[in-house]
Amino acid sequence: MADIIVSENIQGPSMDALMSDFDVHWNDSLWNDGEALTQAVSEARAIIVRNQTQINEALLTQAPNLKVIARAGAGLDNVDTQAAMSRNVTVCYAPRENSLAVAELAMGFMLNLARFITLANNDTKEGNWNRSQFVGTELSGKTLGVVGFGRIGQMVARRAKAFDMKLCAFDKYLPHDTPVVHELDVEMLPLDEVLAASDYVSCHVPLMPDTRHLFGVEQFNQMKSGAVFINTSRGEVVDEMALVDALVSEHLRAAATDVRESEPPKPGGLADLENVLVTPHIGAFSEEAQCRVVDTVCADVRAVLTGASPSSVFAG
Ligand code: MLT
Repeated sequence: MADIIVSENIQGPSMDALMSDFDVHWNDSLWNDGEALTQAVSEARAIIVRNQTQINEALLTQAPNLKVIARAGAGLDNVDTQAAMSRNVTVCYAPRENSLAVAELAMGFMLNLARFITLANNDTKEGNWNRSQFVGTELSGKTLGVVGFGRIGQMVARRAKAFDMKLCAFDKYLPHDTPVVHELDVEMLPLDEVLAASDYVSCHVPLMPDTRHLFGVEQFNQMKSGAVFINTSRGEVVDEMALVDALVSEHLRAAATDVRESEPPKPGGLADLENVLVTPHIGAFSEEAQCRVVDTVCADVRAVLTGASPSSVFAG
C-alpha cells in the first residue's frame, strides 16, 4: 500500500519529484471508485485531490495513518475539514494559485457574450457571412455586479475597471472600508440591489450551506431584464432550473457557466440553450495556474511527511 494517494488528475514536475521520493499511488479515476479509494487510503499518510474526491468522515475512519489531505485548488467543499481537523489531519490547499485563471475566464465569458463571439464563429464556420446578425454591445459604461468580493471577485473587478465598467458588489463578510473597495470605486450593496443594478452579474462565492442555491427564481427575477449571468464559482450555488427558466423566458439575455449542479451534468438543460456558454469546470485550468497549484500542494505534502511546516494550511 502506498504512502501518498493521488486520486485525480494532478500532474507536473513537482508531482514527478514527489513520485521519485515517495511511494505514490497515482490513479486519476480513483475518486470515482469508493471501494478502491477506501482500500487505497487504509495505510496512506497523505492524499492529494481536486474537487471530485469526497473526503468525508466515513473515508477518514478508514484512514488511521493519514497525516495530510492536500486539495489541489481553492474550494474545500469536498473535504470535511472539521472531521479532518478533529483527527489531527492537516488540510492543505491552494487558496491563491488559480485565482487569476478563474478571473480571466470570467472576463472571457463577458467579452464573448457581449460580442456573440462563439455564435458568430459557429455561424461563419457553417459557411455564412452574417455581419449584421452579430451586432453586440460594449462592456464600457455597463455595470458589473460582483457577488462574492474575495480574491477572485476583486481580480474580475480590477479587469472590468480597465474596460471602463461601473462596479458594484455584494459580500457578506468583507468590511466595506477594505482599501480595494475605495481603490476600484466599488459600490458595496445588498444582494438584491446588486442584482437590480447590474448589466452583468458574476458569481464568486464559495459553496457553503448558506450559498447553496443563492441564485434561484427570486434572484433571477431581481436581475435587470436583458442582463447577463456568469458563474465560475460552484454549480450548486445556482438553481439551474431557475436559470434555464430565466433564459428561456428571455428575462436574462445570456449566461455562461463553467460549473454545474452535478458534474459531469446530464445532457440537455442549460447546454441546449443558444444564449448560454458552458465549459467543463476549466476555470483553474491555465498552464500557469496548474503549475502553481501542483507546486504548492506537493511542497506541502512533502513538508508534512518530513516534519517541516507546510505553507498553505486551512485553519478553520
Ligand atoms: C478550485 O476550487 O480551485 C477550482 O474549482 C479548481 C478545481 O477544483 O480544480
